[in-house]
Amino acid sequence: MSNQIVLTSLSKAGGVGKTTTAVNLAYEWSLRGYSVGIIDLDLNHSIEEFVGLTPKSDSATTSLGIFSPDFSGNYGFETIFGSEKIAVLQGHPELETLAESLYSRRKREFILSKILNKYPLDFDLIIFDLPGGFDLITENVISVCTHLLIPVHVGVKTLSVANLIESIYKTVEELELDPEPEILGLIPNKYDKSSSTHETVYSGLQAIAEELDYKLYPPIRYWRSFERAALSGKSLKQLRSTDPMTQIFSQVVDDLVKELNS
Ligand SMILES: Nc1ncnc2c1ncn2[C@@H]1O[C@H](COP(=O)(O)OP(=O)(O)OP(=O)(O)O)[C@@H](O)[C@H]1O
Ligand SMILES: [Mg+2]
Repeated sequence: MSNQIVLTSLSKAGGVGKTTTAVNLAYEWSLRGYSVGIIDLDLNHSIEEFVGLTPKSDSATTSLGIFSPDFSGNYGFETIFGSEKIAVLQGHPELETLAESLYSRRKREFILSKILNKYPLDFDLIIFDLPGGFDLITENVISVCTHLLIPVHVGVKTLSVANLIESIYKTVEELELDPEPEILGLIPNKYDKSSSTHETVYSGLQAIAEELDYKLYPPIRYWRSFERAALSGKSLKQLRSTDPMTQIFSQVVDDLVKELNS
């Protein structure tokens, strides 16, 4: 397939909004008439709660199953939000030991790439939802991505963002990825204008974005509705269609649509 976006959000820390971004982008993307598959590589069953699915116990039809040497292309996606356009492949608690088990395999950073080449997915957009950190699974995901997003909790030091970007460059260089995944932009999250720390971090992000010529999306404010939406198994737009915070996802989707059609 030529026109397909493969995207992930990266962060070395947890709780920055990767899953929130995945769910809200997927919903917005589906409203434009395109299909999307979210592949959860988190061991915490977190996406199921965000989208109202019951966790699967049988690992074979979760994302863990696709890394099995016996995998034969039966992906186990489930549609969500009553839409045929959005599907989720659930994670599994045993993903915790997956990275370790991949270390002894040949071409260990390219296992996912091999699977996707052998059993291609027909979605216009694939979103990998990773846990925080940077391990062999992260490298496997980076090696199949066309685009990367960097959500940043503005309560953390910008040094950690610089460190993440350095790790991404190192991976891209060492694995000789060609084409290289493109960094779509930085998304500041959980922003509180009244906090001087947040202001400082935000200015630091502006400097990084300018220096590296990355897009800096408008900050997503600390917004209780995200938690309410997640608790009710919905995207924010399904809960509150005119909520101003949904506009940022709409902007990201505008950019993704441009990339899809470029
Ligand atoms: N802008 C926001 N305002 C308020 N709450 C938010 C916001 N963004 C995310 N949250 C909430 O913060 C929590 C963490 O967000 P989320 O799970 O998306 O982060 P994550 O990066 O996927 O975390 P993990 O690394 O644990 O997978 C969730 O409860 C989510 O509802
Ligand atoms: Mg998550």
